[in-house]
Amino acid sequence: MPRKIIIDTDPGQDDAVAILLALASPDEIEVLAVVAVAGNVGLHHNANNARKVLELSGHTSVPVYAGCARPMRRQLVTAEHVHGDTGLNGPDLPEPSIPLQTQHGVDYIIDALMSAEPGTITLCTLGPLTNIAMAMVKQPAIIGRIAEIVMMGGAYFEVGNITPAAEFNIYVDPEAADVVLRSGVPTTMLPLDVTHQMQSTPARLDAIRALGNRTGEAVYQMLSFSQEFDLEKYGWEGAPLHDPTVIAYLLRPHLFEGRHCNVSIETDSELTVGMTVTDYWHVTGKVRNVNYMRNGDAEGFYALLNERLARLP
Ligand code: BDR
Ligand code: CA
Repeated sequence: MPRKIIIDTDPGQDDAVAILLALASPDEIEVLAVVAVAGNVGLHHNANNARKVLELSGHTSVPVYAGCARPMRRQLVTAEHVHGDTGLNGPDLPEPSIPLQTQHGVDYIIDALMSAEPGTITLCTLGPLTNIAMAMVKQPAIIGRIAEIVMMGGAYFEVGNITPAAEFNIYVDPEAADVVLRSGVPTTMLPLDVTHQMQSTPARLDAIRALGNRTGEAVYQMLSFSQEFDLEKYGWEGAPLHDPTVIAYLLRPHLFEGRHCNVSIETDSELTVGMTVTDYWHVTGKVRNVNYMRNGDAEGFYALLNERLARLP
């Protein structure tokens, strides 16, 4: 039985690749819906981009919802400097024709969890955690019904990418991240410590293009665009590839290693707001609320990605 997931996302080139990886893996994963959240760019663009990606994949029956247009307490911080003005610059994808669902994304998440058997839906989060936290606040009864949250977010050994202390997804809505990490839902984090190991080197990008399908070409164009900023910033041979690690973890958990430990979110300090304070060495007695991944097998990850993207149109 494939694992049922809801993808909560702000696409985003790397989000797009994650969505494609999930859709290309129907034996293991059933994507119930894609829910957009404000993050990399504004909500309107993110919801539009999600629909473009579904059309690219040919999986046009997966519904797309729009969730929250801003974080719970703060002004929205965006990342056009990485993703471009549309959030998905690079490939020339047609404007989508599949509809945006009229129900609010938060209400969809609540309804989906309340109407399914408890423990059967996994939430995969690729952006700020606003929608998930808002759903937990609006209907706390969902908390015990979520099978697992698998999120791209946070950093400890690699520290920050949007500030010296904070990773982007957590920084944009730290209050939401705090609600989610205190909820008690089993949570796996794929932080920058992992994603910085998954570098999209020229050889890896060329291999994706060489798949010869339209998806491979689009992914090549997406990542060629979004990596520009990071290549200059880090000076590495390839840029980090973040969000697809969430789906790769579902498909091949043994590509990753880490440990259960406490992760707490800094919400007060001006200097370090959004920091994921990770008790990796268990120096506190705090509850081990996160399965924190520290390392990943980049060769295995890209081999999986190529194998799966080759299945799409
Ligand atoms: C995260 O921030 C976004 O820009 C990416 O899509 C990813 O989800 C990495 O910090
Ligand atoms: Ca993202």
